[in-house]
Amino acid sequence: MLKLSKKLLRERSFYGSYMGKDVVVKKSKINGKGVFATKDFKKDEPILDVDNSHVVTDISKLTKENYDFDLDFLANGKIIWMQPPEKYINHSCDPNLYFKTIGGIRKVYALRDISKGEELTSDYSMNGWGDATFRCNCGSENCRKIWYADFFKLPVFLQRKHLPYLEDWFKKQVKGKIEELNEVR
Ligand SMILES: C[S@@+](CC[C@H](N)C(=O)[O-])C[C@H]1O[C@@H](n2cnc3c(N)ncnc32)[C@H](O)[C@@H]1O
Ligand SMILES: [Zn+2]
Repeated sequence: MLKLSKKLLRERSFYGSYMGKDVVVKKSKINGKGVFATKDFKKDEPILDVDNSHVVTDISKLTKENYDFDLDFLANGKIIWMQPPEKYINHSCDPNLYFKTIGGIRKVYALRDISKGEELTSDYSMNGWGDATFRCNCGSENCRKIWYADFFKLPVFLQRKHLPYLEDWFKKQVKGKIEELNEVR
C-alpha cells in the first residue's frame, strides 16, 4: 500500500482537498475550488506563506488555461506557478485578503476580521495590470460584474481604498500613476 507522509496526510484530506493548518481547499460557490478559513482571523493577521519558488522559465508553451488558473505575475516580469493552497484563492469584489511581501517573504494577510468557514478571497486587481478580464461571480453586493486585471480600471475610490495594501514593488512599477492618485481629492 502507498505510504503517505504525515505532512502529505495533513495537506490532502480524503476528499482530495488541501487541508492546511488554518485553511481548507474545497468546492466554492464562486468558481471551482476555493480556500476557506478553518479558524477566525483578526484584521492584518498573517494567514499563509506564499510559495514563490516555482518560476516559469519558458513561456512559449503556456496555455490560456495556465494563464487563467496556474500563474501569478510578480515584480520585474517574474512569473510563477502558483502552489496550493494559494493557487485556489478566488477573486471577490469584496475581498478579505491582501498579499504583502516583507523582507522578501510574501504572505497572505487578513484585510478585515474573518470568521471560521468564510471563503478567503482577494481582489485580483490589486497589484494587477494587463488586459485580462472575466465575468465576475463573486456574489458580493458591490460586485463589479466584469473583472479587469488593471488596477487603474478600478473606480478611483477603490484605488484609494486599496492603496495601503498594495505591494511596494507594484507601487514602484506604477509610481507616476500612484502619485496622480495621491493628488486626487
Ligand atoms: C487562481 S484560479 C482560482 C481557483 C479556481 N477556482 C480553481 O478551482 O482552480 C483563478 C481563476 O478562477 C476563476 N475565478 C476566480 N474568481 C472568480 C470570480 N470571482 N468569478 C469568476 N471566476 C473566477 C477565473 O477563471 C480565474 O482566472
Ligand atoms: Zn465580483
